[in-house]
Amino acid sequence: MSSKQLHLNAFLMGVGHHEAAWRHPRTDARRILDVGHFQELARIAERGKLDSVFFADGLAVGPRVERNTQSIFEPVTLLSAMAVATEHVGLIATASTTYSDPYNTARKFASLDHISKGRAGWNIVTSAGADEAANFGLDGIPLHSGRYERATEYLEVALALWDSWEDEAVVLDSGTGVFADPTKVHRIDHSGEHFTVRGPLNTPRSSQGRPLLVQAGSSESGKDFAARYAEAVFTAQRTLDEGKAFYTDLKGRLARYGRRPDELKVLPGIVPFIGSTEAEAQALEQEFTDLISPDYALRQLSNMLGIDLTAHALDAPLPPLPPEAEIQGNKSRYRLVKELAAKEDLTVRSLIGRLGGGRGHRTFAGTPDQIADELESWFTAGAADGFNVMPPYLPGGLEDFVAHVVPILQRRGLFRTNYTATTLRGHYGLAAPANRFEGSDERSVAKVG
Ligand SMILES: Cc1cc2nc3c(=O)[nH]c(=O)nc-3n(C[C@H](O)[C@H](O)[C@H](O)COP(=O)(O)O)c2cc1C
Repeated sequence: MSSKQLHLNAFLMGVGHHEAAWRHPRTDARRILDVGHFQELARIAERGKLDSVFFADGLAVGPRVERNTQSIFEPVTLLSAMAVATEHVGLIATASTTYSDPYNTARKFASLDHISKGRAGWNIVTSAGADEAANFGLDGIPLHSGRYERATEYLEVALALWDSWEDEAVVLDSGTGVFADPTKVHRIDHSGEHFTVRGPLNTPRSSQGRPLLVQAGSSESGKDFAARYAEAVFTAQRTLDEGKAFYTDLKGRLARYGRRPDELKVLPGIVPFIGSTEAEAQALEQEFTDLISPDYALRQLSNMLGIDLTAHALDAPLPPLPPEAEIQGNKSRYRLVKELAAKEDLTVRSLIGRLGGGRGHRTFAGTPDQIADELESWFTAGAADGFNVMPPYLPGGLEDFVAHVVPILQRRGLFRTNYTATTLRGHYGLAAPANRFEGSDERSVAKVG
């Protein structure tokens, strides 16, 4: 029995990750607007003792509104409703550092952390879409390097704000009439290139100190940013060798920031099609592939590559693509799609079939044992600390994973059979973060007002 256990996050999206999930009889598309659907998903994840659930987010309607069912609700709001329907499972939401200010974001996540009693996590994104820029007064996406520079200062501000209340700051003494100890609440007095923030935050420190920090950009800047701040990383790696290389590269960067490799957990994505035989799982995947609308898939592909392919012939290969250095959007996904098409000599039609399951994440059709074998082999080979499980359809795909794959992992000693921690940070085996102001009166409101 292995002593080290893997971590499992359920990446939830509408009625499933497959872009045609909402058209398949295994789903009920009306449920994408039903909070009860999402509460049910959180309960299923909790039944499986999963570490967390997660929502991605973008700040624009995705391609082809007439076919798009994804990411309807603002995720922190949605997770607040899921928090009150569960007790253990972690709740991770995406928020952009490009189109918001750190004070609001720090407060929003501190609130979710209190509401959920220490189960909140933030997937930090810099927003790679041109459609999003158009909603915030910009003609195009801000430069890639500029987005990560802003994100770095943003994180410094957010971290300082979450430290601005010490653990013991809330006194709540009705006898003396004291709510908070002003020597334990601090201004941050940040003045930088992008932000000027006095602080303190108007929400006290939560039971896990601050939300878990998650990141999912795999470009050079993305990996450095993750090595500096992230405690969990979601990533799309298609082969074991790519997974190992990414894992080694990322873990190797942590020492530069004074961190140990186990302070960051790497979770590659997997889209599992589960069947009682391999043939049944493959036939199920094919049913979904057959429902893909090429016009929508072409628009998705155009978005991923940053070039317009909507009029491109489906049975031709991709046209010549620009070098990655010219891409200002999502660099890692651009590279993944370009390499996949070239390596397997795919036509556009085959490429969109391959991307339909999880927008480039690895799809795997097999029996529960085959899926468990696959996860175990990545885990033991040093390609993953756990997995971002992306059910192709919901709730059934998550139910099957929890009912059939999780027990195999548990029997092999690879996954918990019960929660042993109360916070999300605890589920991921991470210590509570130190507070820079603990025991110091530096900039306390008692001193500086
Ligand atoms: C599993 C996963 C989830 C992601 N979720 C989001 C998201 O919710 N919103 C978003 O704007 N980007 C999301 N991204 C994209 C990344 O955050 C990042 O912007 C992208 O990989 C480009 O970064 P890079 O240029 O550093 O590679 C996600 C990526 C992955 C792998």
